[in-house]
Amino acid sequence: MYQSHPIPFNRSSLLGRELEYIFQAMSVGQIAGDQTYSKKCDAFLEQVLGVPKAMVTTSCSHALEMCALLLDLQPGDEVIVPSFTFVSTANAFALRGAKIIFADIRPDTLNLDERQLESLISSRTKAVVPVHYAGVGCEMDVIGEIAARRNLAIVEDNAHGLFGKFRGRWLGTFGGLATQSFHETKNITCGEGGALLINDARLIERAEIIREKGTNRKQFFRGQVDKYSWVDIGSSYVMSDVLAAFLYAQLEEWRAIQARRQRAWQYYDENLRSWAQDRGIGCPVVPDYCEQAYHMYYLVMPSLDIRQAFISFLKSRGILSVFHYVPLHLSPVGLRMGGKQGACPVTEQKSERLVRLPFYNRLSQEDQDRVIAAVRQFQP
Ligand SMILES: Cc1ncc(COP(=O)(O)O)c(C=O)c1O
Repeated sequence: MYQSHPIPFNRSSLLGRELEYIFQAMSVGQIAGDQTYSKKCDAFLEQVLGVPKAMVTTSCSHALEMCALLLDLQPGDEVIVPSFTFVSTANAFALRGAKIIFADIRPDTLNLDERQLESLISSRTKAVVPVHYAGVGCEMDVIGEIAARRNLAIVEDNAHGLFGKFRGRWLGTFGGLATQSFHETKNITCGEGGALLINDARLIERAEIIREKGTNRKQFFRGQVDKYSWVDIGSSYVMSDVLAAFLYAQLEEWRAIQARRQRAWQYYDENLRSWAQDRGIGCPVVPDYCEQAYHMYYLVMPSLDIRQAFISFLKSRGILSVFHYVPLHLSPVGLRMGGKQGACPVTEQKSERLVRLPFYNRLSQEDQDRVIAAVRQFQP
């Protein structure tokens, strides 16, 4: 039995001026979207990442749905998505009737295996959606070259990767479109939220319309049209300024947040990597040309049974560790789309074996020491 407090897998925390900014937004009555704080968040992302346009949205899932609308996907079009990802990476495109083609992942970084990409492309393929798993960049030079040659759009699902880099370039700046998540579990959060990054400037005007329910409301407020109207399809993807106020306070602290997470990640790594290696347990692989975003620390156990025993063992010591994505090609929808057991063997194996350790901005060294001690007591 454990004596001290439980250690959760994730816990959000206030890190800056969140409450002050929320109070300010509410006091001046700016609680709907696209007002002062939303604009500050958009400008912040544009300036730091150097993207032509950023728009905060209600979620990363919704930003992905905007991408599917912007690409004008039609029923029967194909979109290549890693099977080892969150459901929204695929669902956003399936909503437009696209067929999802599931790609396997690399055994080292657990990112979409670019070496298999070309074999998945058909005459109906319209887009590929690399997911920078754990904030470690996919092989964007190879993916970019293939996509350009085969005329495919790239949508980066950068839910984990804000402030990570691949070969010195920010994640989220490689695709014509990229998406961010500010869900509670992410490094920078406002509870529920996301952003669309637009690198292909030709898509900016239509993205503004799609985000505003298919209306040219934004042009109206800029004085470009004398009334606003329904001009395209769209939906309600605008983030409330109350959440944007929270988000902006976190964005202002981004360097401190990333530094904290880097310290915590390295502390796990220094204390667990050789213990793990001696027992046939895998640790995250970060190629030296990737500056990772420090989104999570995970272990890959030798088998499903050992992984389950490990999660129970930590739980008995008051520590919550969790598994991650279940292969999408074997989900009920994935099977209906033609997914088959054995089709993505690396995904199937890693998914059964991976376990994430507690990792959040205010994880104290004392609690991390407890996690490390408990992990090292486990006998695989
Ligand atoms: C890779 C990936 N994409 C998309 C999402 C969806 O993000 P949101 O909850 O902001 O819609 C998640 C959520 O965790 C994710 O892990």
